[in-house]
Amino acid sequence: VKNNEITLLDHTFPKDNWTNISENIISKLGRNLHISPYHPLSHIRQRIVNYIYMQFHNRIGNPIFSVFDNISPIVTVAQNFDSLLVPENHPSRKKSDCYYINQNTILRAHTTAHQSELISMGLNNFLIVGDVYRKDEIDFTHYPVFHQADAVRLCTAEEVFQNVDNSNELKLFEHRGMETDEKQGCHALESVKIMEHELKNTLVGLAQTLFGSEIQYRWVQQYFPFTHPSWELEVHYNDQWIEILGCGIMRQEILQKSGAGERIGWAFGLGLERLAMCLYDIPNIRLFWSNDTGFLNQFKVEDPNTAIKYKPISVYPQCKNDISFWLPENKSYSSNDFYDLVRDIGEDRVEQVLLKDEYTHPETKKISHCYTIVYRHMERTLSKREVNNIHNQIAKRANEKLHVTLRG
Ligand code: PHE
Repeated sequence: VKNNEITLLDHTFPKDNWTNISENIISKLGRNLHISPYHPLSHIRQRIVNYIYMQFHNRIGNPIFSVFDNISPIVTVAQNFDSLLVPENHPSRKKSDCYYINQNTILRAHTTAHQSELISMGLNNFLIVGDVYRKDEIDFTHYPVFHQADAVRLCTAEEVFQNVDNSNELKLFEHRGMETDEKQGCHALESVKIMEHELKNTLVGLAQTLFGSEIQYRWVQQYFPFTHPSWELEVHYNDQWIEILGCGIMRQEILQKSGAGERIGWAFGLGLERLAMCLYDIPNIRLFWSNDTGFLNQFKVEDPNTAIKYKPISVYPQCKNDISFWLPENKSYSSNDFYDLVRDIGEDRVEQVLLKDEYTHPETKKISHCYTIVYRHMERTLSKREVNNIHNQIAKRANEKLHVTLRG
């Protein structure tokens, strides 16, 4: 094994000073929970695919969407960001937010990363489902690996205006138009409105298929670099508004660069875990990674539409332990890097990390952080010794890798 190379999913990549992928993350590559038979995330995937197949078919009843659910999560930085017009200095590109294999290669942070490549291949209607990777906080609903489904639909003028009388007067594009809240400069308002209508109808229908026809919902304006206008869909569930997806009219520049400039498109992206946690009452995102049959067997049904409510197996005790340290003075520090380090050492034995206190010394201006680390295994009781051992390793590694100074 060479130290300046890393092998992931049977491919070898050179390492450089951008490499920040951890062992814990590497161990998740190839698990493919979204296509594991009977897995709750696989049921959700199947329900979304079935719905889209049913909504969009050709004259003889065949689905027009192609589904890609097994594309490697290793992509180029160009695919994940540049092809989607994400600006060079956008915060989502930061080393503290994603997993770089090296300067040019990354674990995709969203399944949208494959959009322009599939359009270039000539596809007009497709779904992408897969695992995505982001450095993030640690709690019941966040995990550095999760799963998304993305959809793209591209239409010609003929398709957009097929139900409109005298449609020969209508066009997709407008020469030298202005960008407004409602549309991009190059688009004609009538074509955008028809696409927006189809997009929103499709997604409300999806929400009703998943949550039931009585579900309350609302649209919220949003910003994405790759769509305009853009929205999020929220549904009212268990007395809360929860955001379930992002969507919008695709930036025309993306279509032009991929050889589909004569069409107009919509796109959406959603996370599978959040949907599954709501629909099955799953209280903790780590459960999706469990190999415990007490969890998995509860989802062993042939029909993905079966209503299932998860019943907790048993609850093992929590163990809380604080850690506080001075941040490095002449190096950058990000809490996300600490969370990643905790995850790497603690693996799934850490349930939550809370930033409990932040303090600036009045004279030296040094900053100190205090975190509470909540330890709990889902399948067994952790011994005090095991917890102390992990906690000490975290402290040691934080000092070495993040250059923090531990406080007594
Ligand atoms: N990629 C976006 C996300 O991860 C979701 C999205 C996809 C939004 C496609 C608009 C269009 O949040």
